[in-house]
Amino acid sequence: MPSKPAETISGTRRIAVIPGDGIGVEVTREALKVLKAAASGGPSKLEFTEFDWGAERYLRDGTTLPEGAIQMLRRDFDAILFGAIGDPRVPANKHAADILLGMRTRLDLYVNLRPVELFDHALTPLRGRGTTEVNFVVLRENTEGLYAGVGGQFQHGTPNEVALQVDVNTRKGVERIIRYAFEYASHHNLGRVCMSDKSNALTYGHEIWQRVFSEVKTEYPGIESRHLYIDTLVMEIVRDPGQFRVIVTCNLFGDILSDLGAQLAGGLGLAPSGNIHPGRISLFEPVHGSAPDIAGKNIANPVGAVLASALMLDHLGLSPQAGMLRRAVRASVSARQTTQDIGGSLGTREAGDWLAKNVTKQLA
Ligand code: NAD
Ligand code: IPM
Ligand code: MN
Repeated sequence: MPSKPAETISGTRRIAVIPGDGIGVEVTREALKVLKAAASGGPSKLEFTEFDWGAERYLRDGTTLPEGAIQMLRRDFDAILFGAIGDPRVPANKHAADILLGMRTRLDLYVNLRPVELFDHALTPLRGRGTTEVNFVVLRENTEGLYAGVGGQFQHGTPNEVALQVDVNTRKGVERIIRYAFEYASHHNLGRVCMSDKSNALTYGHEIWQRVFSEVKTEYPGIESRHLYIDTLVMEIVRDPGQFRVIVTCNLFGDILSDLGAQLAGGLGLAPSGNIHPGRISLFEPVHGSAPDIAGKNIANPVGAVLASALMLDHLGLSPQAGMLRRAVRASVSARQTTQDIGGSLGTREAGDWLAKNVTKQLA
């Protein structure tokens, strides 16, 4: 769906930068380099303001999402560039739930757009599959489902303990993500939408997905629509990924599918995502987490963060600049100027430098 660019009087786009934890900090630094290179050639300015929300701050003073943060973000910014969040020192990752899930729900970012695009056939673990076959988007409902935070624990720690996590599916929530999927397919000429649920077992919570899907699809007769149960869908994606262009599903299934998709296209290091409310402030981040196993070693792949920045530029109405970022990434993959997770030998910083330099060359 075409999202309306955020407009500011001066043509400046104001971006809140939240690097977060672990490799989130490392990859965000590189994404900023590349964004600055792209912005230096155009009439629109990008203005960045950094926030220290994450594990360090939480462990220091107990702050997760500061008081008034949501209102401030809505008032003062056009987009959020996010790194990753998660730290083994924080029990149950409480800060992650408040900060990341907090922004997703409280800014009502109901679309989680996760494109899966294979840049080079050598990167997929699927034998004999090429770039045209691994090319789809996952549209994950991003504000409800099992992530709604409804539930409780009773008689905690006793033999009679009960733990409940309620799957919340609202008519409004289901309808708007399904409608977005058809709009997205139609706007990008993708021709087909597959909705996936588990309505054969979740006869209340997912029956509504079936019903709403069959209603909404009648409004888009030019788009082929299909339904698959989630267990069949994952099998079909691995067997023959070329069948899929737009997949729409609930919050939890979308989370799992997007990591599967990421691996089919070369790994988590390359996968971007947009947490979007069309026409409003939205948040862009790589799909991966804070990767404590590789943090601080200058080996994380910054491409997921760079491609997330490209999604952000699209959202801000700066598609020519987004195109430069994507061309730079493609060039780096063909020239094997990448980090080691996809076969190169560059460090995080060096990969970022290469991408920024490529963007500068494109401007010349
Ligand atoms: P992860 O995505 O951090 O890492 C999974 C594996 O992929 C690791 O082996 C890691 O080294 C590798 N990997 C991830 N990003 C990479 C990159 N850019 N380059 C190269 N390799 C990369 O998932 P995890 O280990 O399950 O989670 C770690 C922490 O991150 C947890 O606290 C989790 O909750 C959190 N998390 C946060 C987000 C987010 O902020 N959106 C997403 C997923 C996980
Ligand atoms: C993601 C992450 C998050 C999610 C975690 C960190 C809560 O895995 O962005 O995919 O499950 O949405
Ligand atoms: Mn995930």
